[in-house]
Amino acid sequence: MKLCMIGTGYVGLVSGVCFADLGNNVICVDKDQQKINSLKKGKIPIYEPGLEELVLKNYKNKRLDFSTDLEVSVKKSDIIFICVGTPTKKGGSSADLSQVYNVAKHISKSINKFKIIITKSTVPVTTGDEIEKIIGKKNKKKNFSIVSNPEFLREGEAIRDFIYPDRVVVGTNEVRSNKILKTLYSPLISKGAQYLNTSRRAAELIKYASNAFLATKVTFINELANLCEKTDINIEDISIGMGLDKRIGSRFLRAGPAYGGSCFPKDTKAIINTAERFKTSLSVIKSVIKSNENRSNLLLNRVKNLLKNRIKNKNICFLGVTFKANTDDMRDSSSLSMIPELSKKGAKVNYYDPTGSKSELNKYKNVSYKQNIKDAIKKSDLIIIHTEWNDFKSINFKTFIKGKKPIILDMRNIYSPSKMKQQGFKYFGIGR
Ligand code: UDX
Repeated sequence: MKLCMIGTGYVGLVSGVCFADLGNNVICVDKDQQKINSLKKGKIPIYEPGLEELVLKNYKNKRLDFSTDLEVSVKKSDIIFICVGTPTKKGGSSADLSQVYNVAKHISKSINKFKIIITKSTVPVTTGDEIEKIIGKKNKKKNFSIVSNPEFLREGEAIRDFIYPDRVVVGTNEVRSNKILKTLYSPLISKGAQYLNTSRRAAELIKYASNAFLATKVTFINELANLCEKTDINIEDISIGMGLDKRIGSRFLRAGPAYGGSCFPKDTKAIINTAERFKTSLSVIKSVIKSNENRSNLLLNRVKNLLKNRIKNKNICFLGVTFKANTDDMRDSSSLSMIPELSKKGAKVNYYDPTGSKSELNKYKNVSYKQNIKDAIKKSDLIIIHTEWNDFKSINFKTFIKGKKPIILDMRNIYSPSKMKQQGFKYFGIGR
């Protein structure tokens, strides 16, 4: 099929490349000429394992192309995916849909034959209705169909999550559109993905509800970890004990720092805003947002206690600063609330991250990026393992540390407390 992906961020580029790899002809459109030029040279603007080779392969065999010309690209395509950003409005909690509606206006000028127009970006309930109105102003309803088809891609695992999704959710009441989408996704369905057809609004809500629930699950185990620290219980036993109940499931029960990223914080706020629009309250999700916002402070207090409230002039090492492993994304990473605070209190913070130096952090006094683990650890009073990169999973600390042993705060419970204590370290995990 001929597809057009509008927006070449995590969603548009990954989905477009994967659709091309499944045999479709795909044009990825972006208004940023520089971005399009580098994509044509095989330079990928986002850090996503496996993406570069897929782009090169499909661009070479001409199943994938890039363009800044939205209207021409739409005219050439049968199915149009809207994959532009829907960030939280500055100073607010609702999703900023200006990019989505702007794209809809451009699409409405390019309906030269029947088009299926799909929102793949995460958009609040009733956005599809709004897009239908915008496009309906200039086009007969029989010439287009507005469908919701949310993505469930995790950063760092996006290609795998696209090719092996648990489910494909398609929100439309139109038989023709549903049939075409089912054909488009048939290679994934034949590999075991569940195909779920719902109303458009249900599909829009499923995305937010899923992310809000995952954020709730993570926050739940993070709070249980606080209780475990006070009761000498290992949170990992709780995660395993709970997870063996098939109704609960073992995933997303790893205690850690506050959750971050470009989705959980944005989507939890947006679903609250949707509920308020419809005069109802989602009190559980509200408490999840509050609990997660408090978590970074709670962990900062933990750091202060470990250093006996003497932060000034202390050398603190952060291993990993991105919001999770296998991404370079710093959005809402808990390191962005912890490191500035520690710098303000006079600590000297060295950090290493496999994805390199971060401008968001280097602007703070006495915060510096180190090229490798050894330099970051050197002379530390406290080592904080913040992100669960594989690079940090088998560090032989004894080779890096001569003389006074630092305290180790393992915020991802990577290491065994008993082994670390045997090596003479004052080792602390999360929830154990
Ligand atoms: C999430 C959803 O998983 C994905 O389906 C959706 O499409 C986009 O949002 P992502 O934001 O990439 O994906 O990150 P995810 O892997 O879900 O982790 C989110 C946050 O939860 C991270 O800060 C991560 O460190 C944290 N987390 C996750 C935990 O603390 N413990 C866990 O067990 C799992």
